[in-house]
Amino acid sequence: MEFKNILLSNENDIAICQINRPDVLNALNMQTMSEIVNALEISDKDENIHAIILTGNKKSFAAGADIKEMSNASSVEMLIRDQFAKWDKIRKIKKPLIAAVSGFVLGGGMELMMCCDIVIASETAKFGQPEINIGVMPGAGGTQRLTRAVGKIKAMELVLTGKIISANEALQLGLVNKIIPIEYYFEEAKEIAKEIASKPQIAVQLAKESILKSFDTTIENGLEFERKNFYLLFSTEDQKEGMNAFIEKRKPNWKGN
Ligand code: HXC
Repeated sequence: MEFKNILLSNENDIAICQINRPDVLNALNMQTMSEIVNALEISDKDENIHAIILTGNKKSFAAGADIKEMSNASSVEMLIRDQFAKWDKIRKIKKPLIAAVSGFVLGGGMELMMCCDIVIASETAKFGQPEINIGVMPGAGGTQRLTRAVGKIKAMELVLTGKIISANEALQLGLVNKIIPIEYYFEEAKEIAKEIASKPQIAVQLAKESILKSFDTTIENGLEFERKNFYLLFSTEDQKEGMNAFIEKRKPNWKGN
């Protein structure tokens, strides 16, 4: 598949999807979102890929949805565009998504980051939901995922004031896993991707699915869902291998099934 606004490459069992519209700080127009979602789906289906890194460049992960593409749209046009249907597909990606972010992580950019499972940030990263300053509000999950991530009062502060926060503040709020000097943040994302890629893959995917389930269910249903996935793992070869390797005091040799 030909991509115009992203670069997709594979390094061993890691796929790297890089947003590539540097002239507009990686603003997420509809074409770019389509390409990102296509790339994630291609990588998700590829048996040789175990983890996916989503990144931008050092200056900007993404400065939000493309304002120029939306500015003159009517409500009905926005409804017909249904651009968020694409975003919904990101939730269906089974493989772990690791965001490597630097520079601007704003609006839709921050919402895209919050669709990922692990976030490695450079120390220059700046985060915010500034939509209020252009007369709108987050529309790609910001009010929901941010609130679940940081709680009501901090989500209110960020969304209602549109303030920009530093990487350190984002770390304190639990929005990112680690802050790394700008020279190394992408390498660190690769390291964590490699580590996860080296684990038994069905367990990784079912664990991810179970954690995501907690966002849209009661604790009772969530515990039941978790239990079923736990039981399901007992029909994988990797469960037998992992537990036997522990008992035999040797390293497991994962098969991925
Ligand atoms: C379209 C954008 C853009 C955006 C930057 N650009 N952000 N174009 N949509 N979101 C373009 C600028 O127009 C400019 O193009 C070029 O990128 C460089 O930007 P500057 O503003 O000149 O850079 P700088 O002065 O360094 O300021 C950086 C910035 C600022 C603080 C990030 O660009 C900014 O405030 N951007 C908008 C941030 C924002 O409001 N995001 C939320 C969008 S709404 P030219 O052609 O002039 O050189 C949103 C809704 C989400 O995300 C829900 C739907 C998914």
